Amino acid sequence: MLAREFGTAGAHVIIEERLSGREVSLLAFCDGARAVLMPPARDHKRIGDGDTGPNTGGMGAYAPAPDMSPALLRDAQRLVFEPILEAMRAQGTPYVGVLYAGLMLLPSAGGRTEHLSVLEFNCRFGDPETQVILPLLETDLLDVLSACIDGRLGPLEVAWRPGAAATVVLASGGYPGPYEQGLPIHGLAGMPASVTVFHAGTGMLEENVVTRGGRVLNVTATGADLSEALARAYAGVSAIHFDGMHFRTDIGGHSAPGVAP
Ligand code: GLY
Repeated sequence: MLAREFGTAGAHVIIEERLSGREVSLLAFCDGARAVLMPPARDHKRIGDGDTGPNTGGMGAYAPAPDMSPALLRDAQRLVFEPILEAMRAQGTPYVGVLYAGLMLLPSAGGRTEHLSVLEFNCRFGDPETQVILPLLETDLLDVLSACIDGRLGPLEVAWRPGAAATVVLASGGYPGPYEQGLPIHGLAGMPASVTVFHAGTGMLEENVVTRGGRVLNVTATGADLSEALARAYAGVSAIHFDGMHFRTDIGGHSAPGVAP
């Protein structure tokens, strides 16, 4: 503040209640009046296993987050998404598109149940949440987006596949600090059929795929349950290599209800 590092934006400090709990990313397709919730997802923002080290753009994710119970999902629909859509409609700016609510699960008085607090809204998909949500979408995404635009989400049955999805981010050595780029990536051709690799920070150098960013690849898989999805994703990870590559080995490890982040 003294150095005015953030200009006038740094002239005031707002002190807010500290929320300690488990974060959930809950996204919804919105057509201006209705919100259709996607499976709740959880990302892992810290660079190191056990949620240690600096924050990153996200080192992995899984969906659905099993601690988001049907009751909590109903609460989120009724107390978060419906009121915000209604408020935006009332002020003449109906919200059409993907609404991302960052939620915190907090113990209620007595500690036996949980309630939600909203941390943030984003007007977009999440990264890396999208990599684990969209593989579970059975309905054609284009049909869903068209229904959002045309205000007809009501009659559309948005169907989701059973099971779970997991993604592991492979990052450049040094990320989230400075890192080298242009390093050849090996093993992409040998991916098992059950694994999808989303390219985030890659490029081509002659005929080779090379690193071109901090978060380089998202190795993603679905499965009958979270353990199967994770096993498949990590099998994909073990086939890939580039110099300095690092990743978290505990994606999905905090999914059990009652386990602190
Ligand atoms: N994964 C956090 C975000 O997309 O904002």
